[in-house]
Amino acid sequence: MTTSFGNALDGSPATDGALTAPAAARNRDPILAVLRDVLPKAGTVLELASGTGEHAVHFAAALPHLVWQPSDPDEQARASIAAHAAAAGLANLLPPLELDASAPVWPLTRADAVISINMIHISPWHATQGLMAGATRLLAPGAPLYLYGPYRLHGQHTAPSNAAFDESLRARDPAWGVRDLDAVVALAAEHGFGLERAVAMPANNLSVVFRRKP
Ligand SMILES: C[S@@+](CC[C@H](N)C(=O)[O-])C[C@H]1O[C@@H](n2cnc3c(N)ncnc32)[C@H](O)[C@@H]1O
Repeated sequence: MTTSFGNALDGSPATDGALTAPAAARNRDPILAVLRDVLPKAGTVLELASGTGEHAVHFAAALPHLVWQPSDPDEQARASIAAHAAAAGLANLLPPLELDASAPVWPLTRADAVISINMIHISPWHATQGLMAGATRLLAPGAPLYLYGPYRLHGQHTAPSNAAFDESLRARDPAWGVRDLDAVVALAAEHGFGLERAVAMPANNLSVVFRRKP
């Protein structure tokens, strides 16, 4: 996560700890367009790996019929989410939960949708396994699981920039790396999710939409 300290309200205490990720400002509207199609008409959306919290604020503001539950295992991220949420003052945005996707028990027992943006390549595969297992526990049949990020397709990178990004991720941590969509779809199937669609997004990313099978 590329971050910098934000100052959205000119030093207001409400922005203390607020981080910004430039990519979030670029990808939030293309992601929102897909989410409008995918998310239910009502209910709670659990966002894993909320990072700075900028997506959470943007999506909660744009989708007032939904309750938005941000989360992140990182304390600094949760402080940033809370700071952005305080500045936004949205009734449908809940305080961030401490949630590591790989944990066998999550701090909530149900949700109507689960989303995760730019997480599965910046964490060990074990976190993706935990994400799928947790989403299975929380979601009812028909509910969506939405993932966003770069993917390899049938083993191949979709752009030289993704190959370079993959190399840089693996140099930082050999357990990280751009995942192969086939492997993610196979793992999802093991956990009772069917692939509904994969949507090409700007900057060589994909929106990947799964539904919990009956
Ligand atoms: C690249 S940032 C993406 C943040 C945000 N979703 C965005 O797109 O701006 C990756 C995030 O994944 C979180 N993360 C890493 N490992 C995780 C795990 N095992 N479970 C949940 N979140 C995790 C990090 O704390 C970080 O906030």
